Amino acid sequence: GRVVVLLGGSSSERAVSLESGRNVLDALRARGIDAHPLDGIDALRQALVQGERIDRVFNVLHGNRGGGEDGVLQGLLEAFAIPYTGSGVLGSALTMDKIRTKQVWMASGLPTPEFVRLAPGDDLRAAVFRLGLPVFVKPSCEGSSVGVARVQTEADIDTAIAVARAYGGEMLMEQMVVGDELTVGILGDVALPSIRIVPKGGWYDYNAKYVAEDTQYLCPGLEGTDEEAIRTLALAAFRAAGCSGWGRVDVMRARADGRLYLLEVNTAPGMTSHSLVPKAAAQLGIGFEELCWRILEQTL
Ligand code: DAL
Ligand code: MG
Repeated sequence: GRVVVLLGGSSSERAVSLESGRNVLDALRARGIDAHPLDGIDALRQALVQGERIDRVFNVLHGNRGGGEDGVLQGLLEAFAIPYTGSGVLGSALTMDKIRTKQVWMASGLPTPEFVRLAPGDDLRAAVFRLGLPVFVKPSCEGSSVGVARVQTEADIDTAIAVARAYGGEMLMEQMVVGDELTVGILGDVALPSIRIVPKGGWYDYNAKYVAEDTQYLCPGLEGTDEEAIRTLALAAFRAAGCSGWGRVDVMRARADGRLYLLEVNTAPGMTSHSLVPKAAAQLGIGFEELCWRILEQTL
């Protein structure tokens, strides 16, 4: 059948998505699949209205508002009865929203850092007092660390809020877990080996994610029962959030006591040359082409 690879879009993660999409397109074609790119939801909608044949969609559109991770794309494809990769409407919409994802995890007894939802006019100093410094201020619905600012001292608060607010929508202030940054790819019913990220600059921001060549990745990220525990937790978190197909769960491990804290789920994770799910799959001997095939296979 004819597979459309959805890439690009108009979210803040457009550039990342273009690279991810190109890689996926090449991989599927190398497997002999009749794959075609479409840039963004508008192009998809036009193709659908014009009655173009689309047998299934491989979604690598990152982000919300013009991205493909917030449930809108999934609803559109459901309405046209076109199978697609990744999570459905609920899992996509929920996990695009960090605040509500954390609320579901808390209600499920799953660990996530303490946070405060910031509303306009809130007393920020009271929020900081409750959480204690350092904290992160984040837009609730962005990805790739876009708009995320670290608050070390009270003097940083106003700048952090301004940075996060530039992306619009709700914001949260989240306790910063001091320790290791880990991530767990999910492929079907399997949690892939974890990856521990060691950025040179000390913080895994947009630059460390996609530009810097000196970010270190250790896979598996933990050993023995610790590694088992993080994979089990990630899979539980993925399911509790209503996700399926494939994705990636970001987790912090506190240096003080080794406790794990869930940060977020990515339902259309990056597939760039710097990205993490391909690295984790490679650890199991699953190459990039094979990975793309296995993700697509879930839609059959
Ligand atoms: N949001 C980016 C694409 C990722 O999680 O890989
Ligand atoms: Mg993300």
